[in-house]
Amino acid sequence: MASLTPDPWSSLSAERFEALARSHGTPFYLYDADDVRARIQAVRDAFDGQVQVYYAVKANPNLGLLRALRTTVDGLDISSGGELDQALLAGYDAAALSFAGPAKSRAELTASIVSGVGCISVESVREIDECVQVARGLGKRACITMRVNPQLLNRAFGMKMGGRATQFGIDEEEISGVLQHIVAHLDALDFRGVHVYAGSQCFDAAGVVEGVESTLKVVREVEATTPLRCMTINLGGGFGLSHVDAAKEMDLGALATLLSPVLRDFAATSSVRRRFVFELGRYLVANAGIYVARVISAKTSRGKQFFATDGGLHHQLAAAGTFGAALRTNFILRNLTRSDAAPTRCNIAGPSCNPTDLLGIDVELPAPEIGDLVGVLKSGAYGLTASPILFLGRDTPAELVRMDGRIEVGRRSRPMTDFN
Ligand SMILES: Cc1ncc(COP(=O)(O)O)c(C=O)c1O
Repeated sequence: MASLTPDPWSSLSAERFEALARSHGTPFYLYDADDVRARIQAVRDAFDGQVQVYYAVKANPNLGLLRALRTTVDGLDISSGGELDQALLAGYDAAALSFAGPAKSRAELTASIVSGVGCISVESVREIDECVQVARGLGKRACITMRVNPQLLNRAFGMKMGGRATQFGIDEEEISGVLQHIVAHLDALDFRGVHVYAGSQCFDAAGVVEGVESTLKVVREVEATTPLRCMTINLGGGFGLSHVDAAKEMDLGALATLLSPVLRDFAATSSVRRRFVFELGRYLVANAGIYVARVISAKTSRGKQFFATDGGLHHQLAAAGTFGAALRTNFILRNLTRSDAAPTRCNIAGPSCNPTDLLGIDVELPAPEIGDLVGVLKSGAYGLTASPILFLGRDTPAELVRMDGRIEVGRRSRPMTDFN
């Protein structure tokens, strides 16, 4: 199995970070494409090639990063027309894309069918009907998987997206009627299989296996009750990776030990050539990213030290604690300029007028000084893509991508006036 680095930035010197800050301005993001590629390969190796690895673009849609992953990843999970365009611009084959989302518009479905998206993961009867109409109008067939909202409420997932009433997928109890509907429209639909994405931030290998077993039960039902065959079985993913604890992430080895025999046994029960897919976002890219900001100001307030930086929730909402997390926790911070200074307990604030704009609360850091660079580790997933970039009108950060040791601009910094 490829070896994974806990922190791909530990060997970059203070001088190198400062040179990047001077060339590209602060704050900036830096992503290590080599680290992401190693993780993709590690998943594939762990399962001995039994599963394909798709990358969930929503975690980080940076064009430079997508281009860097193109020859490594098996495909992409996309969730909008914008991500479809970005994937095509990055050079991906439309057949290697899987499109999920509960409100795909007619324009998005049309673009998907025209470009030949490999799997439109249909989440409602309305969407199926719209695919049929669009495909017939174009004289094509829409390639679909059926996204199922399982009955199983999988407690192993920190953020649950299935197993209860939800906007995602077709309720497992309803699938037999929906399958009949699909069978009645096979002139316009090319049915590829099923898709279950039940949640995110799962650290428990047995929990993933439980979810997969419930998905395979659905596949058996599809095949026992209809002439449809599930060549593609998208198992979702949601492998956990902690932003707080450097060592905590889904144990791939343990997962493969438990899951490989399940997949092997299932594949052996029929002559259909199965394609098992994991679509992973956070697990692949979170570790690869660092967000770098400069200390602009320092003060003491009622006995507590505050260092205010030019980076904060407008670029890194997750680190300021309010994107999807139930509890606010400090991301791992590093003083990049003086790592050997005596440690001090302090707060690292962002520049906005919002009291939640704190990248670190009561953290211990080598004592920062004005002008120092502070790094937020594990910032590669749901960073800029999930942040309110126009809030308070600051420039967006440059996003840099390291590949084969070279650092290049993956997206330039842009002023607010560029968005008018
Ligand atoms: C359908 C789908 N696939 C994949 C992902 C990626 O999840 P994660 O970043 O937890 O791997 C998500 C996240 O919301 C999703 O909704």
